[in-house]
Formats: sequence, C-alpha cells, structure tokens
Amino acid sequence: MNNRQARIFAWGSTLVAALVFLGLTLDSHRQFPELTNAENITPQVTHGKDVWHKYNCINCHTLFGEGAYYAPDLTKITQHRGEAYLQAYMRDPSQFYDEQRHRRLMPQQNLSEEEITDLIKFLDWVANVDNQGWPPRPILVTGGVNSATGAEQAAMVLTGSTSVGVRPVSPDSDIRALGENVFRTAVPGCVACHSLAPGADGAGPSLAGVATRAELLVGASDYEGQAGDVEGYLRESIVAPSAHLSTGGMYSANGVSFMPDTYGESLSDDEIEQLVAFLATLK
Ligand code: HEC
Ligand code: HEC
Repeated sequence: MNNRQARIFAWGSTLVAALVFLGLTLDSHRQFPELTNAENITPQVTHGKDVWHKYNCINCHTLFGEGAYYAPDLTKITQHRGEAYLQAYMRDPSQFYDEQRHRRLMPQQNLSEEEITDLIKFLDWVANVDNQGWPPRPILVTGGVNSATGAEQAAMVLTGSTSVGVRPVSPDSDIRALGENVFRTAVPGCVACHSLAPGADGAGPSLAGVATRAELLVGASDYEGQAGDVEGYLRESIVAPSAHLSTGGMYSANGVSFMPDTYGESLSDDEIEQLVAFLATLK
C-alpha cells in the first residue's frame, strides 16, 4: 500500500465506523420513548427525581447499577418492597436496621410527606423502565441477614436458592418442590423479603420455623385472624397479610402489613396451595 492508498483506507474506514455509530445512536434514540415509558413521566415523577438529586441519594445508592456502592441498588425497589414499606422506610430508616448489628445505616433524611410520595413515584417509574435485564439480578440489602454466613448469602444470591439452613425438600414431595419454586419466582419474589435461615430477618421476618410458630399462634388468645390450623394460617398470611400482624413495629404501619396484598390475585389457587405445602415443612 502506498501513502495515498493508506490515507484513503484510513478515511474510508473512519467514515464507515462513524456511519455505523451514528446509525446505532439514532436507532437507540428511536427506541428510548418506548423503553423508558416516556408517557408515564408525570410532573410528580419529575419532582421525585429532583428530590432524589436534592438529597444526593446517589452518593450511597445506585440506579441502573450507576452511582455509589455503599447502599443497595434501587432500580427495582418498588417491585421488591411495595409502597407501604417504602413510605415507612423513608420516614424513619433507623427503625429498620440496627447500626451495631448491620454496621451501616441510612441516615434520617427528614423528607416531607410530599417528597416521599414523589420519590416513590419516581422510583416506580425507574422500576418500569425496560432496562433489558440490567442490572442482571436484584442487588438486595444484605444487612438484615445475620445468621447465614457471608458465603451462604453469596450462594443464595448466586443460585437463587432459598434453602440455606433448611432441610432439603424430599424428592418425592412434588407439591412442596413446586411450592419452593413459587417461593423463588413469585412477583414480587418472596425471597426479596424473607430468608429461610433462622433469625435472619430482612424486610420481612425469617420464615424458618414458621409452621411451628403458626401452630402455637392459631390456638392463642391474641390471634386476630380467621384461620383454624397451620395451613389455614399460612394461606391467610399469603392472601391477606394484614389479617394478623404477628410481629411488631418494623413490619407494618397503622395495621397494614408491608407484605404486598396482591398475591391472592397474581398467584393461581394451585400455586398458593403449593406454597402452603412448602411453608408447612418449615418446622
Ligand atoms: C449516607 C448514605 C445514604 C444516603 C445518602 C441514602 N441512603 Fe438509602 N440506604 C443507605 C443504606 C446503607 C441502606 C441499607 C441499610 C442496610 O442494609 O444496612 C439504605 C437503604 C435504603 C432503602 C431500603 C432498601 C431495601 O432494600 O429495603 C431505600 C428505599 C433507600 N435507602 C432510599 C434512599 C433514598 C430515596 C435516598 C435519598 C433521599 C437515600 N436512600 C439516601 C444509605 C444511604
Ligand atoms: C415486600 C416484602 C415482602 C414480600 C415480597 C413478601 N412478604 Fe411475607 N411478610 C412480609 C412482612 C413485613 C411480614 C410480617 C407482617 C406482620 O405480620 O406484621 C410477612 C409475613 C409473612 C408470613 C407470616 C410469617 C409469620 O411468622 O407469621 C408468611 C407465611 C409470609 N409472609 C409468606 C410470604 C410469601 C409466601 C411470599 C411470596 C409469595 C411473601 N411472604 C412475600 C413481607 C413480605
């Protein structure tokens, strides 16, 4: 190749690369409105984003995996936790975590009610952006898990397994195995809030030993729900989480449990029975 040919080659290939780049950029912009639910960006969502910036939430948290890595990613947080929990959390985060035990804490931000409402609207818009699978898996708060070891937690996150510290379900008990699968795959995922390791409370109480607790509870005088046996209690906990608030302060506000009350509709009757059969093995 002489000098002239080399120059033409260099310019030519630069031009081709530039055209490809331009084409892809235009194509991305063509898809943005759809991928980002542009039509759902209400004034409240915009205000929520301003609040997010005003309090520098990004100094500790990530959205879409971008930001600081001190605190959990919040991209899908409204789907994992629900509005009632988020409201209570943002009013007073210190109720939910213990600085001594979890070794990190979200500081009290003194947000107004309006700021909280709009922040949740903003986070919910974020959660509905089609991010094509990024970040690749939910990055959850690990602070609540105190009895599973770090390695066990990592294994739970990586494999999606919930079985740390629990007897394995016997292979012939199909319905229970199906139930364990529902436990992992329900939307929002039960595993986002419940661990099965004893004492490892997260956004919901650990479900280790829940069947044994249920048995004592349904016979007790302070039980407020309608169930008469263990299975009934478990079913009630899933479809009507506020029927009996078994645990204090950080799990409910004004008589309403932070557990989503949508499972009665989003799960089929079969799936609920499978879940009940699985949970009933947690003695
Ligand atoms: C100084 C760092 C810091 C700042 C600033 C901060 N957070 Fe947090 N946040 C945390 C930590 C740490 C946790 C998790 C607590 C734990 O697991 O120990 C957390 C947890 C949360 C959670 C609960 C997550 C879950 O899985 O339950 C939400 C929601 C949240 N933060 C929202 C916000 C919002 C909104 C802002 C801005 C208004 C904000 N945070 C600012 C540190 C921070
Ligand atoms: C957003 C967090 C969250 C999700 C998701 C969630 N739960 Fe819960 N769950 C809770 C909270 C909080 C409580 C405690 C409420 C109370 O009694 O005050 C609870 C309570 C329970 C209880 C009663 C526990 C006991 O000790 O009495 C059962 C059983 C249960 N959940 C099962 C499930 C199943 C099954 C799923 C998935 C289909 C699920 N939960 C999804 C937060 C959640």
